[in-house]
Amino acid sequence: MNRRSPDFHPALRLIHWLMVALVFTMLFVGVGMVSTAGPAYVSLLALHRPIGIAILALVLVRLPLRLATGAPPLPDDLPTMQKRIAWGSHVLLYLTLFAMPLIGWGMLSAGGYPVQVTKGFTLPPILPHDLRLYAVLREAHTVIALLFFALILAHLAAALMHGLIRRDGVFRSMTTGHRRVPATTSEHDHSEDTVRPLA
Ligand code: HEM
Ligand code: HEM
Repeated sequence: MNRRSPDFHPALRLIHWLMVALVFTMLFVGVGMVSTAGPAYVSLLALHRPIGIAILALVLVRLPLRLATGAPPLPDDLPTMQKRIAWGSHVLLYLTLFAMPLIGWGMLSAGGYPVQVTKGFTLPPILPHDLRLYAVLREAHTVIALLFFALILAHLAAALMHGLIRRDGVFRSMTTGHRRVPATTSEHDHSEDTVRPLA
């Protein structure tokens, strides 16, 4: 686990931003889907299932990679409570990234619906056919989606606080990364950017 790097592993950064696009799409497709009774419902659901399963596949790649490559340390001057909140919110984000697709897959299984990902590929049911279980999971899918949305907004606010106000390099650790300084640096390389990286 490399905790000395100031940045997340490039593959983790790529997966993070891919998942951001997919999760936002899912939240809006989900809400759009349940707000329409028209023919768009079927197309939106046909989009919702494979994207949801893609998120599950990506988090299955992302979590082991994250555990193997570690995370850059948060700035020393960040209050301990804020560091704990950041850690806790990341754990919750990971849990939700697993829970939402699994609940979606599980609720369709319990409802007796096929979990069709593409035209030729249908996933097997992961739960027995049980309408009461379906009702519970259907409710859970909505409630957790709303909590997920709130958590993402808080996460976005924290990211912007680091990027625009504290300018402490945390935002950059998940975006472009920090500029590498070669072992033999010339005087010219000692810019403020490399000594005290801005976000
Ligand atoms: C990160 C993944 C996911 C997110 C963020 C998400 C989000 C949502 C949202 C916001 C809704 C609307 C809830 C409401 O307003 O009541 C919804 C509904 C639904 N989702 Fe998901 N979902 C995800 C994964 C999945 C997966 C993987 C499946 C199935 C394989 C699935 C199947 C459904 C179904 C069947 C509905 C309800 C349709 C209806 O009752 O008419 N979801 N989802
Ligand atoms: C769908 C929305 C999002 C999800 C599910 C998500 C998920 C995550 C997770 C799980 C981490 C922890 C990384 C790790 O330790 O492996 C993280 C970190 C981070 N995210 Fe997001 N994220 C989302 C949206 C955003 C947005 C919109 C921004 C910025 C505009 C952002 C900026 C960051 C930054 C800067 C970090 C590093 C924070 C740190 O090291 O404490 N994320 N994100």
